[in-house]
Amino acid sequence: MSQQAMKIEAARAALEYVDNGMRLGIGTGSTAEEFVKLLAERVSEGLEIIGVPTSERTAKLCTELGVPLTSLEETPELDLTIDGADELDANLSLIKGGGGALLREKIVAFASKRMVVIADGSKVVDKLGAFPLPIEINVFGSGATIKAIEAAAKRLELAGPLKIRENRDGDEFKTDGGHLIVDASFGHICDPEALSNALHAIPGVVEHGLFIGLADTAVVAQESGVEIKT
Ligand code: 5RP
Repeated sequence: MSQQAMKIEAARAALEYVDNGMRLGIGTGSTAEEFVKLLAERVSEGLEIIGVPTSERTAKLCTELGVPLTSLEETPELDLTIDGADELDANLSLIKGGGGALLREKIVAFASKRMVVIADGSKVVDKLGAFPLPIEINVFGSGATIKAIEAAAKRLELAGPLKIRENRDGDEFKTDGGHLIVDASFGHICDPEALSNALHAIPGVVEHGLFIGLADTAVVAQESGVEIKT
């Protein structure tokens, strides 16, 4: 089965968690997009849900496909968020932000009673960190913030190149919130919680892509079938 086919299978299995009348957080990325397409089919057949998109990109796809949307201002509490991940470990701790939407994704997941992660098997890891950790930083003072991130990482015996993300034209990538993303290649992160706390202590860090204690369930599609991790 191709990786794309596995993403579709995970997205299809996650639809089982969606009930009529739910307020849904809707993730970002290629796996989440497969979920949106399947969700839109169900909506066209009469399923009634309202969604909060985690990015402008997801909002556009939902609008094109007829998935009704709201905002966290109108609907501050959600029943369920369904989103992809760049990595997930056995504790359902995640690295997210490969698509640059980590801030809105975390806000939406935090506002949800439940978060279900959808992924193909390549995303499951023993230890987080082979995927560079995306860290969203304020444009103001970015040089100082990067130095502070390096120093915080060093205190935790983590090191590795920090790269400001660029878009295809070689310009700085800007998030939906107008911030920069630093991709931190620290390698294996032995204590994700300590790194999370250290990054949150830096004023220029807006948010980071470690999602700890947010996911309740992972729907992982493998060659052998779909596996549910709780
Ligand atoms: C976007 C994300 C995505 O969920 C993550 O990058 C996974 O994307 P994909 O499903 O395309 O592999 O965190 O910010």
